[in-house]
Amino acid sequence: MNHFHRGPDGALWAEDVPLEQVAAEVGTPTYVYSRATIERHYRAFDAAWASVPHLVCFAVKACSNLAVLNLLARLGAGFDIVSLGELERVLRAGGSPDRVVFSGVGKTVPELERALAVGVRCVNVESPAELAMLDEVARRLGVRAPVSLRVNPDVDPKTHPYIATGLKRNKFGIPYDAALPTYEDAMGRAGIEVVGLDFHIGSQLAETGPFVEATERMVSLLDELHARGVPIRHLDVGGGLGITYRAEAPPEPAEYAAAVLERIGDRAVEIVTEPGRVIVGNAGVLLTRCVLTKDNGETRFVVVDAGMNDAIRPALYSAWHDLEPVAPPRAASAVVDVVGPVCESGDFFARDRELPELAAGELVAMRSAGAYGFVMSSNYNSRPRAAEVLVDGDRYHVVRARETVEDLMRGETLPDLDAPPSA
Ligand code: LLP
Repeated sequence: MNHFHRGPDGALWAEDVPLEQVAAEVGTPTYVYSRATIERHYRAFDAAWASVPHLVCFAVKACSNLAVLNLLARLGAGFDIVSLGELERVLRAGGSPDRVVFSGVGKTVPELERALAVGVRCVNVESPAELAMLDEVARRLGVRAPVSLRVNPDVDPKTHPYIATGLKRNKFGIPYDAALPTYEDAMGRAGIEVVGLDFHIGSQLAETGPFVEATERMVSLLDELHARGVPIRHLDVGGGLGITYRAEAPPEPAEYAAAVLERIGDRAVEIVTEPGRVIVGNAGVLLTRCVLTKDNGETRFVVVDAGMNDAIRPALYSAWHDLEPVAPPRAASAVVDVVGPVCESGDFFARDRELPELAAGELVAMRSAGAYGFVMSSNYNSRPRAAEVLVDGDRYHVVRARETVEDLMRGETLPDLDAPPSA
């Protein structure tokens, strides 16, 4: 359920704001998020775990705009981060470091130093090498680093190969069979305090099965760790719950949580979760304007002013996103390719899609663009990145200004190539 709907005029609105108004005042392409939708999704997800002590850590990578993080922090969310930049965003947005878990296979010494200095809740360690690095950093700073090992349960998440993480073949986590010795290693280190056990098997999962399978494997590991006296206080079940882009029917958060909790039973652990997409995915659209149409005799192209640099999911994962004209609905009457202006044949948002006739100047909304949308954008083809807008009832705020051409060249310099060579 989201708050993008047809308004009294038949056109597409975000809450009580017509998208036409946003486009007219802010321009295109623009990412538009709905506050009510984000809050609704967060509350539903949080409520799904209400029967146990738990912490919902929003995966910042899904949508890292400060205003969005601030909304979530105000609701009591924690955050799952994967870089120094994400940590600083969370702090700037009013997030509390003791609700931050730090994931990622390649954390650097400066990142670990900063994480320990601000006092994150937990570092999700993904290798013996990282454990040794973190131990050294912690001892140097005179602290003990709270640690959870991310264990790879070797479970097939049945999702796109680029976003599967819980198979042995993937770079993520510590192999299941190496978990016990790595915990023993951790327990012997003066700079490490073992607090948790963590897994995350992939993203956009549309079924409960793989989550349940992974939970079962982790619970048997948890029992073994508890039997050996390893003080695991929390089990981090990762993120990954899918959303409906087209015809997928992923479980509701309550159904997913119930299935996972049933496997955990009455074991005395707090549950940490790391949802990203399910909170923000359907809470955002990418608003773009049709530049022109062209026909090569075989294919009819609708060229829009957003490109793969603004939204890369179709190009990178062959992802399907609904495209809706913002104007009042009319019958589909053409089969078109909707493409961007970037110089790559992979720069398309839809191929052979049945849509109403679209004319130059018309607005189109790419739905389900709130997760892994703006955050994956780039300046390819020297295109300034889009603006971001947060709609709140009948008002909206520009929460990230559109980049300017000046922004594009920030930090670049022209060296004096005519200077004589240095002696
Ligand atoms: N925790 C960890 C350790 C993760 O690696 C991820 C996502 C999440 C949580 C959040 O997963 P979610 O609940 O959003 O599925 N760019 C891709 C998705 C990459 C996901 C990476 N990791 C896409 O656009 O589909």
